[in-house]
Amino acid sequence: EKIPLRIFNDKEEGSVYIANQIAATIKAKNELGQKTVLGLATGSSPLRIYRELIRIHQEEGLSFKNVVTFNLDEYYQVEPENKESYHYFMYEHFFNHIDINPENVHIPNGMLSPSEIDEFCQEYDRKIAALGNIDIQLLGIGRSGHIGFNEPGATDTTTTRLVKLNKITIDDAAEAFDGEEHVPLRAITMGVKPILNAKKIFMAVWGESKAEILAKAIEGPVGSDVPASYLQKHPDVLCIADAPAASKL
Ligand code: GLP
Repeated sequence: EKIPLRIFNDKEEGSVYIANQIAATIKAKNELGQKTVLGLATGSSPLRIYRELIRIHQEEGLSFKNVVTFNLDEYYQVEPENKESYHYFMYEHFFNHIDINPENVHIPNGMLSPSEIDEFCQEYDRKIAALGNIDIQLLGIGRSGHIGFNEPGATDTTTTRLVKLNKITIDDAAEAFDGEEHVPLRAITMGVKPILNAKKIFMAVWGESKAEILAKAIEGPVGSDVPASYLQKHPDVLCIADAPAASKL
């Protein structure tokens, strides 16, 4: 493999492993009085990880007061109150259950007017850089090969920006949006470049539907056909997969 890989029996074990790694970093930094900068993902892949982090907060007292978060992406022209927005997802599944300061939460704004987009995206990347880049970036992978919403064609020099969603991604989102015709065609995504600037990256990959694209990302050539393949160039990345996701490697 060209991306370090750890295979767990199931997503439960893999998710608990990643949550423990993240919690250990936050704890160590808390003790030093330092901030932890997390890059966060949405979708089904990180759900169990967030649930475990909530448990560690509630039962072991891990504090998120010094944690600053940057989400990867948000659908464009979807209001934060919309249940399908990534804003809604993050508060529902994570932020409402921990002691994070809302001022430390950053999620791309899906309701910007066209004239505001460039400035917002540049500012997003500036804020990440000003904090010394992301300490731990959590990623899923889309069946298109995307990380965040960096669809095929996105190079490793891309910064945060407005993008068009790929056909596979729209298909996969159709159920959640009650039909393909309701899926937003665009999104604002963190670029490949700020993702690769993260000090440490965990990519969580579960289920057989991801097996084919995971094999391409890990074993295939590095390039924009499969944006996740750029992780092969990262010095501290770990792919955590369950057995079905790793079945084509
Ligand atoms: C979504 C997100 C990605 C996510 C991917 C996989 O659309 N934009 O950040 O990693 O697609 O989603 P899931 O985890 O539900 O398979």
